[in-house]
Amino acid sequence: MNGAAHTAVVSGPVGILSEVTTYDAIGATYRQTRRPDPRIAAQIHAALGDAATVINVGAGTGSYEPPHTVLAVEPSPMMIAQRPAGSARALRAIAEAIPLADDSADAAMALLTVHHWSDLEAGIGELLRIARRRVVILTWDQTVQRGFWLLDEYLPEVAAFDDTRAVAIDRLTALLPGARTETVPVPHDCTDGFGAAFWRRPEAYLDPEVRAGMSMFDMTDEAVTRPGLARLSDGRWHERHADLLDRASLDVGYHLVIADL
Ligand SMILES: C[S@@+](CC[C@H](N)C(=O)[O-])C[C@H]1O[C@@H](n2cnc3c(N)ncnc32)[C@H](O)[C@@H]1O
Repeated sequence: MNGAAHTAVVSGPVGILSEVTTYDAIGATYRQTRRPDPRIAAQIHAALGDAATVINVGAGTGSYEPPHTVLAVEPSPMMIAQRPAGSARALRAIAEAIPLADDSADAAMALLTVHHWSDLEAGIGELLRIARRRVVILTWDQTVQRGFWLLDEYLPEVAAFDDTRAVAIDRLTALLPGARTETVPVPHDCTDGFGAAFWRRPEAYLDPEVRAGMSMFDMTDEAVTRPGLARLSDGRWHERHADLLDRASLDVGYHLVIADL
């Protein structure tokens, strides 16, 4: 049975529509290009500790959900429809207004989603309210990611766009008192095609299907990225970045933020 059959629809406040529209477009190929990476999954699952029940907020197609996930909260019907058979029930709602009781699960996790929320404080407040013991967030540090060669050398306009939406790590830790952070190194053959996943495989960014799974491309006009991508196809990347070719993993700014309640 597919995830859509498990969907409950809950109307949310204004603000839901633009993000739903974004992920209804990106979502079409998400499961092909955004396959959860097993090494990143292991780090996320370790961060969840011994939580016996988990709610995944901004859950998308269900990447990285441990088997004991009891509910997914996700606004986009397109993403919900792609949840694999047998995955946790999905509730159509936004992080800022989760229609669940206090202390609904041991842990709440929110992976690569906080930068889409229209009201970060409200969304984090909801995670703290529905979780009994732990909150785990995966996001990126834009001060590090700005130095990533794709943004720095080829697509400065996309870097500028990401500056406007990235959530600063210290803003998150201020909202989650006592939270600790962990770097999430990205393996050179990462299977999850998020923004900086292809740091050792530059040709991947020339593939429209790969780009279609990344919101930084979906939300940026093609005319803006075309010149940078044309330069990337000139073959000079390998001369400039030969030092990366023997690296197994790289810190490109991804972090877990883990809070005990
Ligand atoms: C990059 S995807 C990440 C999905 C999944 N967590 C993963 O790691 O693959 C971002 C998700 O956040 C969802 N989203 C956007 N705005 C949201 C909001 N206000 N509340 C909850 N989720 C939201 C999108 O629909 C999308 O599914």
